[in-house]
Amino acid sequence: MSDSVVVPIERETDIVCARQKGRALAAAAGFLSTDQTLLATAISEVARNIVSYAGKGTVTLQTVQEGGRRGLSIVASDNGPGIENVELAMRDGYSTGKSLGLGLPGAKRLMDSFALESVVGVGTKVTMTKWLR
Ligand SMILES: Nc1ncnc2c1ncn2[C@@H]1O[C@H](COP(=O)(O)OP(=O)(O)OP(=O)(O)O)[C@@H](O)[C@H]1O
Ligand SMILES: [Mg+2]
Repeated sequence: MSDSVVVPIERETDIVCARQKGRALAAAAGFLSTDQTLLATAISEVARNIVSYAGKGTVTLQTVQEGGRRGLSIVASDNGPGIENVELAMRDGYSTGKSLGLGLPGAKRLMDSFALESVVGVGTKVTMTKWLR
């Protein structure tokens, strides 16, 4: 039984797929239904950003174990245009897409750890983890 999955992201249906796979992995890892929903929401946000701003990429979902605690790690990676100002992108309400600008800061709030790495012209990588309570 595999506890890691790579979901290619290119269109709306892939976002739904990543969301569902994340929820299933979270359930298998022992997350409560409410936390499964939070994880699915965070996955949707980073997957949607790939579709909107990078065109395509991947979302990797993995159950992790560290020092006796279990969690779910989510890595969203793309080779898109990258983000010029990462600090600005993490601010509530900042959007270059005429959207709400709440995706990244919202995902950060839902998770226990969150890292955004981006290089203009190279791509973007969001790494986030949530631990079981
Ligand atoms: N994968 C990415 N590649 C390039 N730029 C990105 C990527 N993800 C986010 N961004 C940039 O960061 C900004 C903020 O992202 P965020 O998800 O917080 O808001 P949004 O997508 O604009 O709006 P919302 O998520 O609320 O619909 C985006 O407007 C975009 O400029
Ligand atoms: Mg977004």
